[in-house]
Amino acid sequence: MASGGLKRGEKILFGIFALIGVFAVASFVMLEIVRARSDKPMYPNTTHYDFSAEGLRGSVLVRKAGCLSCHRALRNGTSMGLELDGIGSKRSFQYLLGFLKNPEATYSTKTVDHGALPKGAAYVAELPEADLHALAIFLSELRADQGSAVARLPAEGRSGFIDEMVRVWAPDNWKSEYKDVRDEVKQQEDKHDAGAK
Ligand code: HEC
Repeated sequence: MASGGLKRGEKILFGIFALIGVFAVASFVMLEIVRARSDKPMYPNTTHYDFSAEGLRGSVLVRKAGCLSCHRALRNGTSMGLELDGIGSKRSFQYLLGFLKNPEATYSTKTVDHGALPKGAAYVAELPEADLHALAIFLSELRADQGSAVARLPAEGRSGFIDEMVRVWAPDNWKSEYKDVRDEVKQQEDKHDAGAK
């Protein structure tokens, strides 16, 4: 390189990198300022809980039993992606208890960590019966708002966008192989309406 000076192309390239860096820092500072001044949370909280006595016992157990080294719940645990918040709106109590006791027979696909040794969470099924019961109650009391990412049911009301996506992208055999969860919502609403009349 000629006596330490930068070539034109290098200047442009480094200039672009510097701009990206400045832009990122400026965006971050602005975001933090907006966040600090706003009285609304940036992300609405879509999960909630109201524990019964046994659910409360489960919430202590979930920490003691080491579940949070793999899972996240109630702002505790790891962020590996195995969220338990909201799971009670997706799975029934019966399912959850079945899964804890007998994961391989309950889970819809092959399990990674729950199941027989040497799987990492093999110990879970061996916990005392009463503890598994309390854990399942606890899990079933972790609820999510309908329509949020962790809920089983989509937002209320029919979405033309989803109808269109299903029509265009869902393979034909899906219609016979799977049930559309939105039909379930509709049936409930119809039943509710019929009851109201
Ligand atoms: C070694 C890591 C690990 C530990 C410890 C662990 N889990 Fe899990 N858990 C997983 C993984 C991975 C999955 C996804 C299923 C699978 O592949 O085993 C899962 C799935 C689940 C599910 C979801 C089941 C479903 O069908 O949606 C529940 C509920 C659950 N675990 C509860 C617990 C509880 C309660 C404990 C503690 C007593 C625990 N887990 C300990 C890794 C772990």
